Amino acid sequence: MCGIIGYNGVKNAIPIVINGLKNLEYRGYDSSGIAYFLQDKVKIIKEKGRIKDLESILDSSKPTLCIGHTRWATHGKPSRENSHPHQVGMITIVHNGIIENYASLKEKLKDEGYLFQSETDTEVACALIDSLYKKNKNKLEVFEDVKKILKGSYAFLILFADEKDTIYAIREGSPLIVATSSIGNFVASDIPAILEYTKNYYLLLEGEIAVIKQDSVHFFQDKKEIQKELLTFQFDLASAKKDGYSHFMLKEIHEQPTVIQNFLEYYLDNLELIPDISLYEKIHIVACGSAYHAGLIGSFLIEKYGDIEVEVFIASEYRYKKNFLNENTLVIFISQSGETADTIACLRLAKSYQAKTLGIVNVVGSTIAREADQVIYINAGCEIAVATTKAYTLQVLTTSLLAYKLGLKTGLIQDSEKILSDLKKLPDEIQKILSIDYEKLAKKIYKKHDIFFIGRLLDYYLSEEGSLKLKEISYLHSETYPAGELKHGTISLIEDKTPVIAVLTDESIYEKTISNIKEVKARGAYTIGIKRESLEVEENIFDDVIEIANLNDLAISPLAIVPLQMLAYTVANLLGYDIDKPRNLAKSVTVE
Ligand code: AGP
Repeated sequence: MCGIIGYNGVKNAIPIVINGLKNLEYRGYDSSGIAYFLQDKVKIIKEKGRIKDLESILDSSKPTLCIGHTRWATHGKPSRENSHPHQVGMITIVHNGIIENYASLKEKLKDEGYLFQSETDTEVACALIDSLYKKNKNKLEVFEDVKKILKGSYAFLILFADEKDTIYAIREGSPLIVATSSIGNFVASDIPAILEYTKNYYLLLEGEIAVIKQDSVHFFQDKKEIQKELLTFQFDLASAKKDGYSHFMLKEIHEQPTVIQNFLEYYLDNLELIPDISLYEKIHIVACGSAYHAGLIGSFLIEKYGDIEVEVFIASEYRYKKNFLNENTLVIFISQSGETADTIACLRLAKSYQAKTLGIVNVVGSTIAREADQVIYINAGCEIAVATTKAYTLQVLTTSLLAYKLGLKTGLIQDSEKILSDLKKLPDEIQKILSIDYEKLAKKIYKKHDIFFIGRLLDYYLSEEGSLKLKEISYLHSETYPAGELKHGTISLIEDKTPVIAVLTDESIYEKTISNIKEVKARGAYTIGIKRESLEVEENIFDDVIEIANLNDLAISPLAIVPLQMLAYTVANLLGYDIDKPRNLAKSVTVE
């Protein structure tokens, strides 16, 4: 979960690399550094803190080759010593990933006489490469040995002290792209780092080596040069800029009407692109975080309309549990980045049992998109804010279309025109909800320390996502409970003025939730309702309520979540936190 970038060209490389790191800060931002050749050495400048702290200690050098790193700490606390780049002997590297066998390697390298300045796995990898290079000056052979020895995930950018005009890159399990432009060549973790210079890029695949010169790039697999397809990035630069919004998160919340409109127009006109999943005996949905919450909604809808049992799993659990996978199982992997380590591991596990795999992914060409048997791209555009919003709603909508297609086949959808009409109302209905003033509501809870979200079935799953949004960016503790479960223990935590936020969209069960609201009110809770407007409730059951349009359950979730996204955003804004880069988090969890 770090961001790495290298530039080799005709311009001053330092501002280009610093700018690239700023566009990668969403991947990690507790320390950063750069490295470049200066006379006959490789100079390193690095520091704990944000990129601006690094900028304050830069010198006036103007190299045309430079590599950089912005860190999300995995091995060793954020500090100058643990920040990248690391240098051992002839080798200087930056790294994204986790080396799982670094401890044993470190002992062996200590026996060879290596001393270590940091707690990181990266410094061990750097010493390993130096040790191998001392014995064999053939770099491609050294890389093949590195691939045999290292266990875990890595994307390395490597400078060799004896080759001052070249950046080497190697990836195994962590993403890397190589890009070409009129001012030189780039290598980076992700597209936003280089988007303002070029849209043309190559995707480095597992085990491939890239050699980045000032005027050429070369690729190798098993020591043989290979040719790769030059891709063009589809989104424009604006999608990587705030466009006047105070935060990317706010921009991306407000983009939801448009991206949902585009998504529905595209896929409803091309429904054949939504796979028919009716023939599977068993369906699993595997994901992490908000993607998992989208999967919960998908499971409800696919079961209801497809009449197929669906189980939803958190990827970090699924990969280690006993499984009963076989060729009759479909495993659906939901992932915005397509690079989440735990989800990738589950995808590879499922394939090893001959299960069929389907990815619901945003980033084109990402690992999950490439390795799943089939992929549905949600086309949310670049999502920069760590807290996902537009990608989540499109993940939910994708599962709605899977269920819709099933429902047409099973006959469990009677009125498809009504469903399509409701889906097409979503952009306008979301626009209405976005125009509400959330400040008044946010001020009632932003100083609270325990906030509860409750709902039943779909409304419970929506509450899970609402609670995560609030926790992620406001750092307020909140938790979600199935409304019927509160009385089995947790209701003991409800005190006078404890905020309880209830989601009520499901006509068939909302009255049960109303009873639960009464239970918490009787204990002094301050209640907020996110309610489908047609549902009749007694006067004053809620202290505050936000009403949303009457849409069917294949359409209502992407609408119902918007008030919870806006409430979380407004609370975090009142608290003055760094909403797009919340503490301890990163956008793509590429380590397990
Ligand atoms: C959600 O706001 C978080 N950013 C996080 O839970 C995220 O959904 C999770 O890490 C999964 O990421 P992915 O969709 O890229 O796999």
